[in-house]
Amino acid sequence: MRILSGIQPSGRLHIGNYFGAMRQHVQLQADNEAFYFMASYHALSTVQDPALMRALTLGVATDYLALGLDPEKATLFKQQDVPEVTELTWILSCVTPVGLLERAVSYKDKVAQGLMANHGLFAYPVLQAADILIYLSNLVPVGQDQKQHIEITRDIAGKFNAQFGEILVIPDAHILDTSAVVPGVDGAKMSKSYGNEIGMFEEGTVLKKKVMSIVTDSAGVGDPKDPETSTPFLLLRLMASPEETAEWEGRYRAGGMGYGEVKKRLLELLDDTFGPFRERRRGLEADPGYVEDVLREGGKRARKVAHGVMEQVREAVGLPISYTPPD
Ligand code: ADP
Ligand code: TRP
Repeated sequence: MRILSGIQPSGRLHIGNYFGAMRQHVQLQADNEAFYFMASYHALSTVQDPALMRALTLGVATDYLALGLDPEKATLFKQQDVPEVTELTWILSCVTPVGLLERAVSYKDKVAQGLMANHGLFAYPVLQAADILIYLSNLVPVGQDQKQHIEITRDIAGKFNAQFGEILVIPDAHILDTSAVVPGVDGAKMSKSYGNEIGMFEEGTVLKKKVMSIVTDSAGVGDPKDPETSTPFLLLRLMASPEETAEWEGRYRAGGMGYGEVKKRLLELLDDTFGPFRERRRGLEADPGYVEDVLREGGKRARKVAHGVMEQVREAVGLPISYTPPD
């Protein structure tokens, strides 16, 4: 089964990205042919500082490797190392109804947040479709908020195939229940654009301060509390064993437990879960040449696959290139 997913290098990653997406990516590398990439062309719709773009792209690759991505098993690469994806984007644009893009909620959200309504941001789902379709991917593991983008991809692939022949594979989204939206310190969806995130590699007093600042209601220690609406519980649940989770649930409902206690345990769980990743990241930071090598090799592998698919696509739409491109 071919798996593909991408993460935008548009900021430092947070634990929502881990539980919502990257944890699954690492798990899925074991029994599948996995392709993961830094969605730098996507990030360009919002990040327009070249030095920052480079640093963030390398940063996300380093994060992936620190989280356990094995370049022997999975192909890790930069989106721009397969520039054919922009060519496919154009071809797909020509079978994409504008109305489909107008219904995309992520565009509306981003504009509502004050981002510039540029055409890249609007056409973003078509580029995402090209990312997925150019590798004939079967399964796309993503967080809940990306579901609509995969539906748009399926729609676009169906239109292409209906018009030009059955070349593209219609992919499925792979969304784990446990990846339902991870809340941030203010209780809203954790997102770098809301400034409510807990960084994946934050530690020490910075992390402690964040955890202690998680917003809770004003229920007193003695009051019974609802775990399902409590951010510290929802975060704890992502890392605690089922037995421990059930125990906290009981203590919430019984009353007699303060939020400080849950937060203290949450901090321990974060250190236990992310401690080994932090350690590995420090090792990788000391060897950026290694990360670059991984990306170069991954880029070559990915481009080879894309190259074959694009030859078929160009042929199908009647736009074959009239000479053999140089290597
Ligand atoms: P952000 O909202 O911080 O900008 P991205 O949109 O770059 O994050 O998301 C990258 C990946 O992480 C996506 O697959 C997305 O679904 C997942 N993700 C991001 N935030 C969360 C969250 N709060 N809960 C679950 N998954 C998330
Ligand atoms: N839009 C995705 C996000 O913001 C990133 C992304 C780009 C992606 N291309 C993709 C995810 C292809 C999966 C498949 O998280």
